[in-house]
Amino acid sequence: MTTETAQNQGGAGVTGGDTLTIVDNRTGKTYEVPIEDGTIRATELRKIRVDEDDFGIMTYDPAYMNTASCRSSVTYIDGDKGILEYRGYPIEQLAEKSTYLEVAYLLIHGRLPSRTELDEWTHLITTHTFVHENIKGFMQGFRYDAHPMGMLLASVGALSTFYPEANQIKDETLRMMQVVRLVAKMPTLAAFAYRHNKGMPYVYPDNDLSYAGNFLSMLYKVAELKYQPDPRLERALDVLFILHADHEQNCSTSAVRGVGSSQVDPYSAVTAGVAALYGPLHGGANEAVLRMLRRIGTQDNIPGFIEGVKAGNERLMGFGHRVYKNFDPRAKIIKKAVDDVFEVTGKNPLLHIATELEKIALEDDYFVSRKLYPNVDFYSGLIYEALGMPVEMFPVLFAIGRTSGWIAQWLEMIDDSEQKIARPRQIYTGGRGIDYVPIEQR
Ligand code: CMC
Repeated sequence: MTTETAQNQGGAGVTGGDTLTIVDNRTGKTYEVPIEDGTIRATELRKIRVDEDDFGIMTYDPAYMNTASCRSSVTYIDGDKGILEYRGYPIEQLAEKSTYLEVAYLLIHGRLPSRTELDEWTHLITTHTFVHENIKGFMQGFRYDAHPMGMLLASVGALSTFYPEANQIKDETLRMMQVVRLVAKMPTLAAFAYRHNKGMPYVYPDNDLSYAGNFLSMLYKVAELKYQPDPRLERALDVLFILHADHEQNCSTSAVRGVGSSQVDPYSAVTAGVAALYGPLHGGANEAVLRMLRRIGTQDNIPGFIEGVKAGNERLMGFGHRVYKNFDPRAKIIKKAVDDVFEVTGKNPLLHIATELEKIALEDDYFVSRKLYPNVDFYSGLIYEALGMPVEMFPVLFAIGRTSGWIAQWLEMIDDSEQKIARPRQIYTGGRGIDYVPIEQR
């Protein structure tokens, strides 16, 4: 609780204990605000008022540069040290030793499963991979060249119409049913979107295969009786899903939480996440990286391109991060996966351009001084391309991996008694009380 005194201490600062003393120089009043976990509650500032009619002080924080919107135990990031942990487990260990479905369990349930729990979870997910036949008809309605992310967006939203009970979000059993369906059906929807683009018949899930293996089968199976994914490519895809599974309060997760805070069903909330991920500054970045590398074309064009970036004409896509200001730990893991995949598929000539671009940028003062390093998307696109995916599928792959994180965060929000409907304030800058002028007099 903020305590207020009339004494003017002539400035703001910590006066001892875990509190912040603020002096309002407009009134001379001093306020003591509790500091908890390195934060003060923004609503405490509302008590700082010039008079009874005053609304109180607000914080102005466009793009949430310095605002914690929730308490979360899902993902820990230390941007300066390049640390990423899911439920406390370092991403490096999970990428090396775990599988995507185990990581999904960890994120959603908050702990690693026992062998029996993992088997049950895997069985549950595997037996819910099929979608209602009407989804096929729905997909068929898209134009032949529709972007698969747009198709995914619409079809995830459409799932809420197939499972109307999903809006009973307080019912734990029903809630967990939708969680399973979302993790299970996302690859099926994604693969249907891909096949629609290709004008190829949709492939039903193969429940004998792993999560990633089944996805590859639904993408690439043609006339063979059984599709057998290359285990190295299957593993690389699984690792990419792990790396993308969660990233605390990023744009799409905040969208899921924001829309979910209205207590809408989880399909609609996750659709908001897919929409946010569609943007080139978020999940669309790996698609933008590949387009950028293709445009650069040859190593000779790199210096000219870098000059253009420094002149502010465009951004070096796949570089920079709001949180990581040293290195992105996911980028390091992906770089290794690139080598593994290219061992199977042969080298992509764009890899040379990417490596050279990275080398030049890491030595250039423009990038060094702004702490711009390769992020997860700089190399992931090259792997996806090596796996045979067109660039339009890249954000779709990101969305498959991120689904478990969105759900974990959504579940956490539902159970958080401090959360209410998300509703920021604004600083109004427009006119007031202006009389309406009939159109002929304007
Ligand atoms: N290329 C060139 N300059 C850049 C870049 C870049 N990729 N990123 C940031 N800058 C510059 C920016 O112009 C600014 O310079 P100045 O101070 O002179 O105006 C400075 O660095 C700070 O940039 P910012 O826009 O304030 O940083 P931000 O934290 O708002 O943006 C970002 C973070 C990821 C949106 C941005 O770095 C970016 O646009 N990167 C390229 C897109 C990209 O790779 N996105 C994937 C992010 S990781 C996966 C995900 O989250 O989806």
